[in-house]
Amino acid sequence: MHIKSDDKEHFLHITRRKYRKQYKRLKRLYGHDEYLVDPKAIMKKRQLFKYWRKKELLFSKVKDSPIYMTDELWYSVTPEILAVFLAKFLRACLPNANKILDVFCGGGGNAIQFAKLFSQVYGVDNAIEHLFCTFKNAQTYGVGDRIWLKYGPWERISARGRFAKLGIDCIFGSPPWGGPQYLKQDVYDLELALKPMGITELLKSFAKISDNIVLFLPRNSDLHQLSRATRSVMGADAKCRILKVSVHGYVKGIYCMWGQSLVDSSKQSDSQIEVGYVDSQDDNAEEKSEAEAIKRDPVNYEIDG
Ligand SMILES: C[S@@+](CC[C@H](N)C(=O)[O-])C[C@H]1O[C@@H](n2cnc3c(N)ncnc32)[C@H](O)[C@@H]1O
Repeated sequence: MHIKSDDKEHFLHITRRKYRKQYKRLKRLYGHDEYLVDPKAIMKKRQLFKYWRKKELLFSKVKDSPIYMTDELWYSVTPEILAVFLAKFLRACLPNANKILDVFCGGGGNAIQFAKLFSQVYGVDNAIEHLFCTFKNAQTYGVGDRIWLKYGPWERISARGRFAKLGIDCIFGSPPWGGPQYLKQDVYDLELALKPMGITELLKSFAKISDNIVLFLPRNSDLHQLSRATRSVMGADAKCRILKVSVHGYVKGIYCMWGQSLVDSSKQSDSQIEVGYVDSQDDNAEEKSEAEAIKRDPVNYEIDG
């Protein structure tokens, strides 16, 4: 299958010899719609059904526009309302910023919302299927022309100093938490459980790219480890700002932020950033009342200093 050259340009370096396997796979993905979501076809995989049921929380356009998902993405994509919130928060804190890097871009949940507000968004993922989903979903949201994608494991890309000289204004990452199992532990070990590296190494790799850093981490993350990693990478006086973010009153995770503009911006902590709500199509009454609740109270966040 032929990939349009306009599209190909958005998959950085993909035609190089060393990526020939990934390029071949990408061409196959363009030829078949194996990851296209049919919103009317009920999800048959039992363990994914609960995510499929709330698909509009992930991508509100899924009901009438093409959205692409792999099995892993069903439980990995950031809910749209939280992605919108973060993009608006960063826009408010970084009024002159243009370039955002989304490491672990998955299905584009965050990258798409960044691209709505920032002119250049780079995404990295070590699954070519996920880069394909990000790009196709970005096209559905009308922002495909603002997104550039790089295939490869972050540990290798970072070790080679890629992106360090690109003038990235803010680097974001929603690393794998190890699947839905992460809540089985009372306290999530950020050094041992986080992939592909512990929090200290991850923070080090991000700090080489930009002073403004955001990570999306489990709500039960060990905050002592977060504090230790902050001091070890950025110095004794460094601060990390933590926003607990919830959807339907359920805390989905924490946005952890570093960098003066993100940590010291008092305006954002005082006022609620306006975000839209996700309208549930489900006929279920409980769902409807949840959607009503979200309309009234779009995103709750608490700031832990
Ligand atoms: C939690 S998901 C990101 C979801 C994304 N924020 C979204 O809203 O669609 C994590 C992603 O990291 C990718 N990933 C896992 N290990 C990686 C690595 N070593 N380097 C780069 N990406 C990796 C996975 O393929 C997956 O797409």
